[in-house]
Amino acid sequence: MEPPDPVAFVFGATGYVGRAVVEVAARTADVARVTAHARPGSPRADHLEALASDRVIVDRTPLEAGPLSAALKASNPSHVFVCHGTTAHRARLEDIQAPYLTVDLGLTRLVLEAAEALETPPRIVYLSAVGASPRARGAYLSARWQAEEAVRSSGLPFTICRAPLLGGPDRGESRPLETAARIVADPLLAALGAVGLTRLRDRLSSMDATEAAEGLVRSAFHYMTINRVVESDELRRVGVYERERWAPESRRDTPRH
Ligand SMILES: NC(=O)c1ccc[n+]([C@@H]2O[C@H](COP(=O)([O-])OP(=O)(O)OC[C@H]3O[C@@H](n4cnc5c(N)ncnc54)[C@H](OP(=O)(O)O)[C@@H]3O)[C@@H](O)[C@H]2O)c1
Repeated sequence: MEPPDPVAFVFGATGYVGRAVVEVAARTADVARVTAHARPGSPRADHLEALASDRVIVDRTPLEAGPLSAALKASNPSHVFVCHGTTAHRARLEDIQAPYLTVDLGLTRLVLEAAEALETPPRIVYLSAVGASPRARGAYLSARWQAEEAVRSSGLPFTICRAPLLGGPDRGESRPLETAARIVADPLLAALGAVGLTRLRDRLSSMDATEAAEGLVRSAFHYMTINRVVESDELRRVGVYERERWAPESRRDTPRH
């Protein structure tokens, strides 16, 4: 018997990349349903409602263990995309201490716990960052590494996608440092690519939300990316994952208990 079509649940769906993941997943033919999660009180939740349709549901469940577990049970996703995270600026506005440990790592653990309780294990598709490693310096990359480790040790099938700098004219929020980094680094990396350093260029050049989301969705539904890290050069490569090669591991055909 054919396994059921994939069902996606997207955390951080109000964000630059999360929203694009909702859009890309929703137009992927075999995906039956996409739940786009917005935290209650999110300043961007109303904007997300514009995506609601017969295939896209906007969910505003509080980010607390009990309600989150119930929401995941009700949705029963085959794929859970984890695209949330804060910035130093936003954390200051929200008065969050140790923001990357609290939000980037803490909410990832919360999602994992809720997903682990599901009868059939969903694949966790985790949006991480280039540079996450056990030797990473700085609070942000260190928290990203710890979140990756939490995903890896969860026992759930996973795909970790390490994105480079994310941005473009379509980001509806001013991020001057990131914009400056893109303006300086991208042409330099293009020049290095032209003299043969193509891997370096493909790893470090920035990506916009749609390119990142297409990479995440492609990676999410492919057997070759199960239980491993997809580095940024692979994330941006179109044509690597053909849909006809979707494999059972990405479907819900193995009951866990
Ligand atoms: N920016 C980069 O260059 C880059 C590169 C690689 C990886 N990443 C990682 O990718 C993730 C997504 O990037 P992005 O550019 O899409 O970020 P974004 O636009 O800032 O979106 C972040 C998402 O996380 C949610 N969020 C923020 N603070 C929260 C909190 N305290 N509690 C619960 N949810 C919260 C936001 O919800 P609200 O809309 O309600 O605030 C939003 O849905 C980031 O976390 C980042 O670490 C970023």
